[in-house]
Amino acid sequence: MSFNYPVYMPYMKGNEKKYVNECLDSTWISSKGKYIELFEHSFSEYLGVKYACSVNNGTTALHMALLALDIKPGDEIIVPTFTYIASVNAISYMGAVPVFVDSIKETWQIDPEDVKRKITAKTKAVIIVHLYGHPCDMDAIVPLCKDNNILLVEDCAEAIGSYYKGKHVGCFGDIATFSFFGNKTITTGEGGMVVSNNENLITRSHHIKNQGVTSIQYWHDIIGYNYRMTNICAAIGLAQLEQIEHILQLKKTIAETYRKAFLNTDIEFLYENDVVVNSFWMCSCLIKSANQRDQLRDFLQQQGIETRPLFYPVHSMPIYNYLTSEDFPIANNLSTRGINLPSYPGLTEEDVYVIANKIIQFVNCNEYAVGSYNYV
Ligand SMILES: Cc1ncc(COP(=O)(O)O)c(C=O)c1O
Repeated sequence: MSFNYPVYMPYMKGNEKKYVNECLDSTWISSKGKYIELFEHSFSEYLGVKYACSVNNGTTALHMALLALDIKPGDEIIVPTFTYIASVNAISYMGAVPVFVDSIKETWQIDPEDVKRKITAKTKAVIIVHLYGHPCDMDAIVPLCKDNNILLVEDCAEAIGSYYKGKHVGCFGDIATFSFFGNKTITTGEGGMVVSNNENLITRSHHIKNQGVTSIQYWHDIIGYNYRMTNICAAIGLAQLEQIEHILQLKKTIAETYRKAFLNTDIEFLYENDVVVNSFWMCSCLIKSANQRDQLRDFLQQQGIETRPLFYPVHSMPIYNYLTSEDFPIANNLSTRGINLPSYPGLTEEDVYVIANKIIQFVNCNEYAVGSYNYV
């Protein structure tokens, strides 16, 4: 089905075609070529982190991070239940045990108090997820990990351009991962990145992603993987990175417009607080009554407006529900009430008012409709 307003469309108005054509013309289309290192270098510079290793998607980036950290079968890894499935699956790939925690009501991010409660002698790492572009509470999480000698992995798949107290996310923990899927703020089609200030971890990542090959050609000293990014993807990534400030500015304006449109209504819009910069990967809101959420999504679909539900808490899925019988009230509440709204950089302020007013109309707050696109 095609929508007038899809949830996402990549913004490709820079050097993407030029760089990709250079790959084609030079025949460097596979995972060797100049764009790989150029993209890795520009990416680490942009973040303010020392080292980066490109990979073929954000899920392999997470797997790679845990491989580089030498996570062992049976290790417990704390992870929010309210996240995309990949954050948890990577733990399973290692034979490690996901230990779920709940989220904070106001920010939707991992609850440090619940992390504290879940630490045991077997806890090896915490994977935090800067969900929907909103940074986690790093002032609470960093000391918690340090004091308990726990590794900190940051899943930044949804959070390029997000800052906590002026520092880019991904620069706080031992290692961090990014995704460049087509709906991400910058995209390579499929792609990912592992970053760290620890040289050893990134050297290990390069080794692992290259089938564990040594300096002797075709001699492998570990069982590695082919997790390499192609030169074509890196070329797109570099062109995207050149435009990132513009893309982020467009997304900020969209979020600001939704926020203003929903002021004085019952609709809660995830914005940002004083200490963070939210990159607004997805503009997302909560409807007062969970019963209305799916009807609202159907209504919007009829109007040509695509939406997504917020993630289902991972602990509730049959593949993981054997791990806990605990209730995660905040995650459950967010999941049943939330929707992702069209969030692509090409949306105009007028588009946002059209969408916001349809939502306001549906939840019977017509008197609150704002902007110049009210209904007749
Ligand atoms: C939080 C989070 N982690 C990991 C991933 C996995 O990234 P990819 O789809 O590139 O494998 C995603 C993708 O949407 C994500 O949202």
